[in-house]
Amino acid sequence: MTEKKLKVSAIRQGTVIDHILQGKAYSVVKILHLDTYTETVTIASNVPSGISGKKDIVKIENRRLSPTEVSSIALISPDATVNIIEEYDVIEKGKITPPDEIDNIITCTNPLCITNHEDVGTRFNVEQKDPLVIRCHYCERTMKEKDIEKVIK
Ligand code: CTP
Ligand code: ZN
Repeated sequence: MTEKKLKVSAIRQGTVIDHILQGKAYSVVKILHLDTYTETVTIASNVPSGISGKKDIVKIENRRLSPTEVSSIALISPDATVNIIEEYDVIEKGKITPPDEIDNIITCTNPLCITNHEDVGTRFNVEQKDPLVIRCHYCERTMKEKDIEKVIK
């Protein structure tokens, strides 16, 4: 082998989340709770992409994501792609669409919101998809993209 560049390995089975916004891989790990996943997770940050750009990638072996999990990624990186891998082949490639409603994934930034005081789950309605604006179902506080990643549960 004369190839000296270190490459991130292909996976045999599982899910590759590609084209994640640069620097956002760790937020994706958090929203999918991969810190407690016991199989191999590969996180690649600042990977050269295109002529001058960079991206992050998260590879999760032996795992498929639920539709809710896939749409939750849109809260962090709306242009990411989700690739399903079987026997080393990409068998499905999907764009992510933001959900209409976000249940129990993020906390409300309003300290007075009932969801911060009583045992009720959080719920946000998506008011605008691009750029993302969401509104708390209970207190009507609106949050934008930059607020959202700070309050992932
Ligand atoms: N991948 C992987 N393991 C495999 C197959 C693919 O980790 N067995 C990864 C690739 O490294 C890439 C992503 O899955 O990050 C999508 O693979 P592929 O569709 O082959 O790449 P591209 O054609 O470059 O995808 P796109 O057009 O979405 O950029
Ligand atoms: Zn609220």
